[in-house]
Amino acid sequence: MVNSAVHPNLIDGNWVASNDFSVNANPADQTDIIGKFARADAGQVASAIHAADAAAFAWANVSPQVRSDLLENVAQRLLEECAKLGQLLAREEGKSLAEATGEVIRAAQIFRFFAGEALRITGDSIASVRAGVDVQVNREPVGVVGIITPWNFPIAIPAWKIAPALAFGNTVVFKPADLTPASAHALVEIIHEAGCPSGVMNLIMGRGSLIGDLLVDHPKVAAITFTGSAPVGRTLAVRAATHMKKLQLEMGGKNPMVIMDDADLDTAVNVTLNGAFLSTGQRCTASSRIIVHEAIHDTFVERLSKEMRALKVGNPLDETVDIGPVASEQQLATNLRYIKLAKEEGLDVIGGEKIELDASGFFQAPALFIGSTTDMTTSQEEIFGPCASVIKVKDFEQALAAANDTEFGLSAGICTQGLRHARAFKRGVKAGMVMVNLPTAGVDYHVPFGGTKGSSLGSREQGRYAVEFYTTVKTSYEAD
Ligand code: UN1
Repeated sequence: MVNSAVHPNLIDGNWVASNDFSVNANPADQTDIIGKFARADAGQVASAIHAADAAAFAWANVSPQVRSDLLENVAQRLLEECAKLGQLLAREEGKSLAEATGEVIRAAQIFRFFAGEALRITGDSIASVRAGVDVQVNREPVGVVGIITPWNFPIAIPAWKIAPALAFGNTVVFKPADLTPASAHALVEIIHEAGCPSGVMNLIMGRGSLIGDLLVDHPKVAAITFTGSAPVGRTLAVRAATHMKKLQLEMGGKNPMVIMDDADLDTAVNVTLNGAFLSTGQRCTASSRIIVHEAIHDTFVERLSKEMRALKVGNPLDETVDIGPVASEQQLATNLRYIKLAKEEGLDVIGGEKIELDASGFFQAPALFIGSTTDMTTSQEEIFGPCASVIKVKDFEQALAAANDTEFGLSAGICTQGLRHARAFKRGVKAGMVMVNLPTAGVDYHVPFGGTKGSSLGSREQGRYAVEFYTTVKTSYEAD
């Protein structure tokens, strides 16, 4: 019997209750309880993996039209329910209602894109070096894919992993973040109700420390895709290597935004505010190092600080609010620890105060660390909050060197009106994504996403490039 007070997991087409559950509370108001969500135990994780394995052959061999129609139906439902789902997402994660609704629409667009891709699985026919022999190269699904997602994009990141997995004929065991299970649960409900066959889509909510290891260690899971922190990614990489498992990791960033002396000031300020502070700075693509040419530094910092101070922090359901709460008490404590450290590092900290509002939430003013150098801890470690270091440089060469002085390489931006510096930056910066006169965060849904160095491992996510991870290539030779 499913306990209706607890949202259950989906295993082999059945909603399954658990003894353990999490209580999901609104980070803007801890008295607003979104719901209780089942935490799967080890036996349930194993059942989900077995169900996905048992369903794999049929799903891999069904007509691509069936897979395409399923994804299109999911896209449609997401669009129909975007207002309701946007509310739910804003309540559980804390980003503004506009951002949350936008995220649901993005999830729908991703499902629609991969509904098309399901019909575009192509191969190659190559002339053999041997006369009378034909060579064909086909793409096949990898099998059971374990999907582990973070709390900061609780519907878009699951969408950009689940949609290609299903489109290309894989079955899924999906573990969303323990902090934000509601949006994930709602998405899986939609996929289930859209007619996804039993076992093809399984949901196992709970703690990563238990479920992540079970997924990566299980011999029936062929591939793991993970978005989250670098330390967890590293642990998964070691374990996946012992099992020779296909792996895709999207981890942190310490993304630079370079402001050149010829930048348009309005653009530079807008792009920096957006990249550094929207979504409460909780994006792996956030601009956390603002690298500013000395000729424009003081004017820019003055404008930026003033406009940062004018951003309204508060309840994300209030449409006048720009920045919602930090997603959890733990994340707020981390941010405040880095703000304290910035002061200890001798930096001039603007903003960063803990804000007490009427509701019991985790509010913090956005912060700038003026006078930073690239070697400081606050310039090197990913904070994952509305905090950005401001680093002054003499010229473009110093700016580029500072931009690259990080273990990460996800996104990088430059504001300049000159073609020369824009081109040199695009060529020279070590990052997977480069933005000219645009924020480092907020990417398109249909083009490759991913980074270099410590930010990513494995092939790219999203767009046509997603096929690399979710399929494997088979080369077949044939003679009469
Ligand atoms: C975006 O900037 O639009 O976890 C997306 C993250 C990234 C997604 C960023 N994987 O923040």
